[in-house]
Amino acid sequence: MSESAPVLTIDGPSGAGKGTVSRLVASRLGWHYLDSGALYRAVGVAASWAGLDPSDQGALVRCAFDTRIEFRDGPGGLRVLVNGTDATDELRLETTGALASAIAAIPEVRAALRERQRAFRRPPGLVADGRDMGTVIFPDATVKVFLTASAEERARRRHNQLKEKGVSVTFDDLLREILARDARDAQRAVAPLKPAEDAVSIDTTGLTIEEVVERVLALVPARAG
Ligand code: DC
Repeated sequence: MSESAPVLTIDGPSGAGKGTVSRLVASRLGWHYLDSGALYRAVGVAASWAGLDPSDQGALVRCAFDTRIEFRDGPGGLRVLVNGTDATDELRLETTGALASAIAAIPEVRAALRERQRAFRRPPGLVADGRDMGTVIFPDATVKVFLTASAEERARRRHNQLKEKGVSVTFDDLLREILARDARDAQRAVAPLKPAEDAVSIDTTGLTIEEVVERVLALVPARAG
C-alpha cells in the first residue's frame, strides 16, 4: 500500500532552496514531508552529544542505527527531537551541517538511514527533500526534481538568512563553506550528489520561491491533470 503512495523527490545542493520549496509544495499538495538532511544532522548532533570521535566510523554507524529521531509540529514549525531532546536549533548550525556532510560520506551510515527514510512514504503522498532521494532512496518516484542555483546566489541567500537571525558571518566564508560542501557531497563514493537521469532540473537563480513552487507543482500529474 505504502509502496504505491506517490513520491515527489527534490534533490540538489545546499542553499538551492530545497527546504523552503519542499515544505511549501508538501503543504499545497497535502502530502507528507521528509527532510532527509535533518536525519544526517540528527546523527551528527547525537554523536557530538555522546562525545564520539568523528574518525571512529564504527561508533558513528552504531549511532546512526540507535539514535531516536522524531519530527513534531511546533509553534514555529517542525521541531526535531534527538533521543527525546529538542535539537531543532542545534540542527541548523553550520557546524552541524559540516558534520552531517562528513558523516553522510560513510556508506554504512547511509545504509542505516535508508529504511527509515522509506518509511515516510505514506498516502496520500510524500515530498522528499535531500541529495539522493531520486537516485537511491526512491528511484521509482513519480516526479523527480533537481534544484540548483549558482554558488554565489546560494551564499547570498544564506548570508541574508543568517543576518536576519543576527548571526555574523562573512559572505566569503559562507561561499568557501558552500563550495567545500558541494565538492564533498558530489565527490563521495556512495550516493554522490547528482541529478537522477529522469529528473527535471530547475535553476532557481533569479526566481522567487513562489515561482519555483509553481514550476514544481506543474510537474505533479494530479495537479497538472
Ligand atoms: O540538506 P542539509 O543541508 O540539511 O544536509 C546536511 C548534509 O547531509 C549535507 O551536506 C549532505 C548530507 N545529506 C546527504 O548526504 N543525503 C541526503 N539525502 C541529505 C543530506
